[in-house]
Amino acid sequence: MTATSDQSVSDAVTAGAHATEIARSGASNLRGAAGGGADPARVSAVVSAALEGIRAAIRDHEVTYEEFDAFKQWLIAVSDTGEWPLFLDVYLEFEVEKVAAATQQGSIGTILGPFWLDGQAQLDSPATLPMRDDEPGTPMILAGQVTSTDGTPLAGAKVDIWHTDSDGWYSGFAAKPPAGNLRGVVRCDDQGRFEIHTRKPAPYTIPLDGPTGQMTQAAGWSPWRPAHIHLLVTAPGHRTLTSQLFFTGDPYLGNDVASADKPELTLDPQPTGHGDQVRSDRDFVLEPE
Ligand SMILES: [Fe+2]
Repeated sequence: MTATSDQSVSDAVTAGAHATEIARSGASNLRGAAGGGADPARVSAVVSAALEGIRAAIRDHEVTYEEFDAFKQWLIAVSDTGEWPLFLDVYLEFEVEKVAAATQQGSIGTILGPFWLDGQAQLDSPATLPMRDDEPGTPMILAGQVTSTDGTPLAGAKVDIWHTDSDGWYSGFAAKPPAGNLRGVVRCDDQGRFEIHTRKPAPYTIPLDGPTGQMTQAAGWSPWRPAHIHLLVTAPGHRTLTSQLFFTGDPYLGNDVASADKPELTLDPQPTGHGDQVRSDRDFVLEPE
């Protein structure tokens, strides 16, 4: 979300509350993580390691009572604004994704992030994502094929796609784009092929008026994410691929606040000769379950 817009005043609370509601419902639990019944030895090992990391920071940096009290207030503010999904997805999810990716074959992926929404438009390829009549931005086609690891085209594959508009705003989390804007679930053809017409997204900052953005700025870190397209690629009998695609030349590549960008996920869209339209082709390989 860009800092300059008049939307930013209420963005942290609005987006945070929405993301918290989704996380609480479990709707974004797309990898089927187990809930409850955890092994006490594992709970002890993981929680001990996490706490020891914080204790070491206190010891090593001689944290004062004033700083400890500020930390408490910051934690309470993260809860009050509903920013736990944002904070966790920006600062920790990439490590969880690395653990998951270590056992996943096929195309590499990256984090889901807090801005996925269920229940979006179901479209058949070739598809144009829902957008405003005067949707600004560079017209862009993303096309490709979904196959299994043995090369079999996956009929019935779906590409769930969502991204910001050309001002860096997500529908469903910011006031300006209407509900469902630049979001959709595209069903591939019987050869697993898809062609999606959309607009090129823009870089954005995490909300700067909430505690996550304020901490980021207080530390002198960049709050920017490079422009990207989010994807969930699914097919019956195959492990879901969660990914994002970035763009060559983006000034924020290599300095993504969410540490989600990877060189293998960079697109280099080329002109199609139709006005200022550009196109990128990208295939996805899914691992059988
Ligand atoms: Fe995003």
